[in-house]
Amino acid sequence: MKILVIHGPNLNMLGSREAGIYGHQTLSDVNRQILDLSRSLEMDAEVFQSNSEGAIVDAIQAKEYDVLIINPAAYTHTSVAIRDAIAAVGKPAIEVHISNIYKREEFRKESYISGVATGQISGLGTEGYLLAVRAAKKIILQ
Ligand code: DQA
Repeated sequence: MKILVIHGPNLNMLGSREAGIYGHQTLSDVNRQILDLSRSLEMDAEVFQSNSEGAIVDAIQAKEYDVLIINPAAYTHTSVAIRDAIAAVGKPAIEVHISNIYKREEFRKESYISGVATGQISGLGTEGYLLAVRAAKKIILQ
């Protein structure tokens, strides 16, 4: 049982980036919690962050996993390539957003990813990743 967690562009700056929106936890803090929870649920987890759309597409295609958890960040609102990669691989995918994308600017209200995702978690802070890990376990056991 393996999950792959992909963090998109600028999420390497969590903790210092717009803390009023994204909180004070760093990406290392979040990744540690993801890895600890996955271990306690007896799942392997791999975390990956990139600012590059092509690198994210490559990871979706090439890495081994049963369920993808992805915060595509700004690519949520622009990337046909990431959407197509998720659809092409055909594995369950959970879309996570730290902020509530429906409460912000108009351009954030459209997700190119949600149409190919199993589900979406938005607006629950970094806790959303941990909820996604729990959901991934249920999906794998189904
Ligand atoms: C985000 C929301 C996106 O609109 C934004 O571009 C991000 C982060 C979130 O986690 O709330 O970089 O995906």
